[in-house]
Amino acid sequence: MSREPPTLEEQRLPRHVAVVMDGNGRWARQRHKARALGHRAGVSAARRIVRACHSHKVEVLTLFAFSQENWQRPPLEVRLLMELFVRTLGREIDSLHQNRVRIRFIGDHSDFPESLRELMRNAEFRTAANDGLVLVVAAGYGGQWDIAQAARKLCAEGLDLSPANIESRLVTADLPHPDLLIRTGGEKRISNFLLWQLAYSELYFSDVLWPDFDAAELERALHWYAGRERRFGRVPESA
Ligand code: IPE
Ligand code: IPE
Ligand code: MG
Repeated sequence: MSREPPTLEEQRLPRHVAVVMDGNGRWARQRHKARALGHRAGVSAARRIVRACHSHKVEVLTLFAFSQENWQRPPLEVRLLMELFVRTLGREIDSLHQNRVRIRFIGDHSDFPESLRELMRNAEFRTAANDGLVLVVAAGYGGQWDIAQAARKLCAEGLDLSPANIESRLVTADLPHPDLLIRTGGEKRISNFLLWQLAYSELYFSDVLWPDFDAAELERALHWYAGRERRFGRVPESA
């Protein structure tokens, strides 16, 4: 007798989903528009995915918004992205807070405009006690920077550089590692995202450009994840 495929709710869901939101520029180019338009459409996609993760009861969603290497983009694009962060955060914070989202920013923010840094601090402070989705925004983030800053802290404290100690000083120390990494835009690389934390994540690459990524695409990724057997170096249970 044939059986209906299990719904997502019946399957294993990732606790932590991390996303490299790539393809905004190409999305705009396909439409003969400026890259800025692609970034704006990318913000809408991010909003959709936050909502979808919230309704699937994902615990943590980490979005890669701006890498340390992205500072090397043309100054105009960098400025535009900063302005977009400021506007988006200003516009979204009330609704995120109402939906009990706890927002967190990870990365080296020392080169960010002070106005943006203050907005980020306020948003973190205001939503700190919320018990819903933890939304981690990686901005000015680099996986190598994260490991190096953890090592620097341990050295200053006179502690061992053991894996457990390094883990405890990463900017994500209090969060589970990503179970599922999604990268849109067709590239199959990590681009200096969460290098340490992705050690045993399931990697899902989609050719869809980020502005086109929607709830249905997320469900496709979640279904794919549900079918993975995670072994963490051990032998399968059936063996
Ligand atoms: C990702 O889209 C957004 C950021 C890196 C800020 P891109 O801007 O990298 O888009 P493509 O890769 O050029 O299409
Ligand atoms: C990765 O995308 C960074 C973000 C999505 C923020 P990039 O477009 O910067 O990555 P590369 O340059 O193609 O590796
Ligand atoms: Mg890109």
